[in-house]
Amino acid sequence: MSKQLTIALTKGRILKETLPLLAAADIVPLEDINKSRKLIFSTNHADIRLLVQRGADVTTYVKHGAADMGVSGKDMLLEYGSEGLYELLDLKIAQCKLMTAVPVAGSAVECRPGVGRRLRIATKFVNVAKRYYAQQGIQADIIKLYGGMELAPLMDLADEIVDIVDTGNTLKANGLVAKDEIADVSSRLIVNKASLKMKHQQIQLLVDQIAKAVCSV
Ligand code: ATP
Ligand code: PRP
Repeated sequence: MSKQLTIALTKGRILKETLPLLAAADIVPLEDINKSRKLIFSTNHADIRLLVQRGADVTTYVKHGAADMGVSGKDMLLEYGSEGLYELLDLKIAQCKLMTAVPVAGSAVECRPGVGRRLRIATKFVNVAKRYYAQQGIQADIIKLYGGMELAPLMDLADEIVDIVDTGNTLKANGLVAKDEIADVSSRLIVNKASLKMKHQQIQLLVDQIAKAVCSV
């Protein structure tokens, strides 16, 4: 008898790109996730259910085994760690980069920290930023924000930001320019380590189907 499998999905843009992949792997929610306020969804498979959550919470649920599997941005895994879980597949969706960015050279807000002054970095990726600037040998004060990082240098809250960059339109619209690349980001299929042991056959079958879907979609 097959056991119940719970898959935690990241809402927002990742969800939009995940649903076609799941459909190609014959996993279809029984109702329209985008039109519902529910957080748990049954699927066309009695033993598979879906959770819809914020990215940071997906990693937490999978780490603790409250969900067996999940779809999470690599940025979330870098920020919150991969302890207790395995990354099984690169789903090649929601592709972007984690980058540093600064005000355009010569702009009114171009920040030049004085000699000996610590660089101020605004970001929601506090752990990523701490590691990155330490590796560069740069002394930095990290300021935690929850969104709209681009505003911080404009208001002289920070000298640089660490954020997601895709088209670069958001940076451009706010007079900033990308500086250094920290990491390539795409969404990953993750699995709780204990779940993989306990439900190996079921999970392996699903991973094979989703891997095929990644190649065909
Ligand atoms: P939250 O609502 O939890 O604060 P968020 O507003 O960043 O998160 P989204 O913008 O939907 O939520 O981003 C979710 C994930 O999508 C990110 O973790 C990242 O992996 C990816 N992502 C974010 N921005 C982009 C982008 N511009 N292009 C491609 N992928 C992106
Ligand atoms: C994300 C990210 C950047 C933007 C980058 O924001 O935080 O601001 O995308 O994409 P771009 O390089 O194509 O402009 P999102 O659109 O998710 O809005 P948010 O600030 O609500 O997270």
